[in-house]
Amino acid sequence: MSSTIALITGANKGIGFETARGIARAGVHVILGAREESRAAAAVDRIAAEGGSAEPLLLDVTDSATISAAAGRIEAVHGRLDILVNNAGIMIDEFDKSPSQQSLATWRTTFEVNLFGQVAVTNALLPLLHRSPAARIVNVSSVLGSLADSTDPESEFYDFKIPAYNISKTALNAWTIHLAHELRGTPIIVNAAHPGFVRTELHGVDAPLTPEEGARTSIELALDVAGVPAGTLVHERAVLAWERWTSGCGCLGALALSGRPAWRNGRRGALKMLGPRGHVGSSPTAGTDYSLTPRNWCGGGWIPAMLRNLPNT
Ligand SMILES: NC(=O)c1ccc[n+]([C@@H]2O[C@H](COP(=O)([O-])OP(=O)(O)OC[C@H]3O[C@@H](n4cnc5c(N)ncnc54)[C@H](OP(=O)(O)O)[C@@H]3O)[C@@H](O)[C@H]2O)c1
Repeated sequence: MSSTIALITGANKGIGFETARGIARAGVHVILGAREESRAAAAVDRIAAEGGSAEPLLLDVTDSATISAAAGRIEAVHGRLDILVNNAGIMIDEFDKSPSQQSLATWRTTFEVNLFGQVAVTNALLPLLHRSPAARIVNVSSVLGSLADSTDPESEFYDFKIPAYNISKTALNAWTIHLAHELRGTPIIVNAAHPGFVRTELHGVDAPLTPEEGARTSIELALDVAGVPAGTLVHERAVLAWERWTSGCGCLGALALSGRPAWRNGRRGALKMLGPRGHVGSSPTAGTDYSLTPRNWCGGGWIPAMLRNLPNT
């Protein structure tokens, strides 16, 4: 059996299954979590048929009994965990209703799975992740949770108001930031992943990416080959904006608190790492020379993204 152990939640189908398959192809032993054990077992059979090392695990992320049983079993069998991909997620908003018309049941059920489930699973498994020499946590989120995009009329995602789903992902992004802060200085790296828009049961058939393509970001983060800073929202090795800082004081405060001279010529090149995502007004555009001006200092909102990408000095 591989010396690296990964758990993927919601791994019986869609992006979760392809994430498990991709991680297994890298020689990692994958534990496939699913809320129906028979579905996990069927998915394990598919990976085993390709020569992958995999095992099924009953894990409903909203059921504390299955969470603690899962943690107990992983500890008993493996003694630790190296990779946790919090992938399970639902989108149950009613598309013919406005945000204020969505039922409270929709809000609560969505948050139970997309936020509280991920928090509960992570908390239960943290002691096992702390036993790994280099652990990774990937929270599968969505760019639809980005406050920058949802407030920017020029963003292609501006009109995608799927309230319970989007806001659960906003909260998940914030949880990722808090967890990364808690775990700074430890060997556990935490990121959020945006898979892209993927043809799965959750999204439907009109999305551009296959599940295998949609799994790429989670796989690269899990295997630590994405080359991005901890505590960021990532798609295809590029850091996405997930907030907008419109307050001048906030921007100046960030610069002051960072203690890093972000405007030094030598540092401006770091912006170009952010990739070719020029469609969002609040994000840097690849190849652009961002001199500091009153407008792009604070109105542009890219300084927080830039600071995240500066190498520690
Ligand atoms: N598809 C996209 O375009 C897209 C875009 C951005 C982000 N995402 C995110 O990617 C992740 C995977 O979504 P997907 O598109 O692959 O959707 P999917 O095909 O519907 O798969 C969702 C998975 O989550 C599982 N799940 C749901 N509730 C669960 C619970 N209470 N406990 C454990 N597992 C549970 C499902 O299990 P069952 O089979 O038992 O229902 C299934 O395995 C989600 O977090 C989603 O928000 C997807």
